[in-house]
Amino acid sequence: MTTSAEEYLARARELAPRFAQRAAHWDQNREYCWDNVRELTEAGIMGMTIPAAYGGGGASFHDAVLVIEEIAKACTLSARIVVEANMGGISAIMAYGTEEQKRLCAPLVLAGDKPAICITEPEAGSAATEMTTTARRSGNKYVINGAKHWITGGGISKLHLIFARVLDEDGAGLGIGGFIVVCDPSKGEFPNGFEVVGRERTMGLCGMPEAQLRFTNLEISEDRVLVPPSGFKRGFADLMKAYNSQRVGAGTVAMGGAAGALEHAKRYLKERHQFGRPIAEFQGLQWMLADMDAGVHASRLMLREAALSRGPGGSPFPDIMMAARAKMFATEMAIKAVDAALQMFGARGYGDEEPLERMYRDVRMFTIGGGTAQILKTQIAGRLLGIKTPQTREGYLKKAPARAAE
Ligand code: FAD
Ligand code: COA
Repeated sequence: MTTSAEEYLARARELAPRFAQRAAHWDQNREYCWDNVRELTEAGIMGMTIPAAYGGGGASFHDAVLVIEEIAKACTLSARIVVEANMGGISAIMAYGTEEQKRLCAPLVLAGDKPAICITEPEAGSAATEMTTTARRSGNKYVINGAKHWITGGGISKLHLIFARVLDEDGAGLGIGGFIVVCDPSKGEFPNGFEVVGRERTMGLCGMPEAQLRFTNLEISEDRVLVPPSGFKRGFADLMKAYNSQRVGAGTVAMGGAAGALEHAKRYLKERHQFGRPIAEFQGLQWMLADMDAGVHASRLMLREAALSRGPGGSPFPDIMMAARAKMFATEMAIKAVDAALQMFGARGYGDEEPLERMYRDVRMFTIGGGTAQILKTQIAGRLLGIKTPQTREGYLKKAPARAAE
């Protein structure tokens, strides 16, 4: 029997108060929230979007964003885990994978693994197509060499989706493809040539390892190729189509954080008295509250619309334009909204007795990770104007052909 969206939401609401209580612990100790992951797994939320035929809940991205918002109000760290256990890498595998790949990967996530998606490199951040990690064909396998950084979950994740520049046996470039690599970090088991070489020390979301990975002659059998390059950039475009789901999820975490901050603000405005009356009576703060509410509400609508949307050509993933617009808007809004809530708490908001300072540090990430706000605005503008927007000097000079305006 499939689980309804209402039932998932009820389970998320049941977990949220416990997650809120523990959130400071993971943050202060920079510890991955294994207790929460166990509870999310028991609730069937890890892998809720995996089709029922593979043991998952068969839920939609829209169902997932409802759950992500509830969890994010309490704990943005846990909500990020829910995103990656239902969108991005795992959704790419469930959409493009072979039967064998799906049967390999689905059980890992359903048992509590948060997959890692490995795109960014030290010299290829926004310019992701300039990645230099290579996967060179050698007989019936590929040999991967290169380095990735800021890989969420590196060192705790079992499942990895690695983006690499595919070369044929003669070293000729074929485009970017995606490769599945499975590790067992809990047992210290990594394939030969796969190393976790460092962890970033982050400002927020401190319980999540952000790792530096190095691949040295990492051998991958050809049956672990998820998306072949199949012509210049084709593979990359397909991988990014799947990634649009993760952008909707990430935007929802930020929006959920802002919605959580709004709840805290409503409480405190009534609790705190100055000048002999509750600070809720000061119009300056009332207007801040109204702006926060409108920002959260507008973001929520955009994100839900994006979660329901589908890209052209029968894509099973959210439309690039809707995903970009919703993530850009929600993440910029969340930073402003949580900042406003913190301001309403005065000094108390700046201290760690209240969760606002942590929430502020946590939401700050979302206009950077997963495609910066600037990159998303460029994608949106290109579609509004019906023009391609190559960012390299060479690309502009080539005057790429126009696409239809939206
Ligand atoms: P840069 O690309 O160097 O950009 C620097 C600044 O220049 C930014 O403000 C950017 O917006 C601006 N900029 C760059 N190009 C343009 C342009 N053409 N027009 C206008 N402005 C521009 N990556 C993964 O692969 N996997 C992960 O799991 C992952 N998790 C992450 C988790 C966190 C917490 C963070 C912070 C990052 C994560 N990333 C991950 C990396 C993330 O995707 C990159 O940080 C992001 O793509 C930006 O790259 P960059 O940091 O190198 O910034
Ligand atoms: N959804 C669907 N298709 C996408 C896409 C997305 N989100 N992003 C790119 N594509 C497609 C493009 O439409 C293009 O296909 P086309 O040639 O058929 O039009 C192809 O992929 C290459 O994209 P293009 O924009 O030409 O690439 P570029 O070489 O100029 O690189 C990006 C720009 C895509 C790397 C940049 O816009 C970007 O998204 N950077 C952020 C990377 C990121 O999110 N990292 C997160 C790591 S967790």
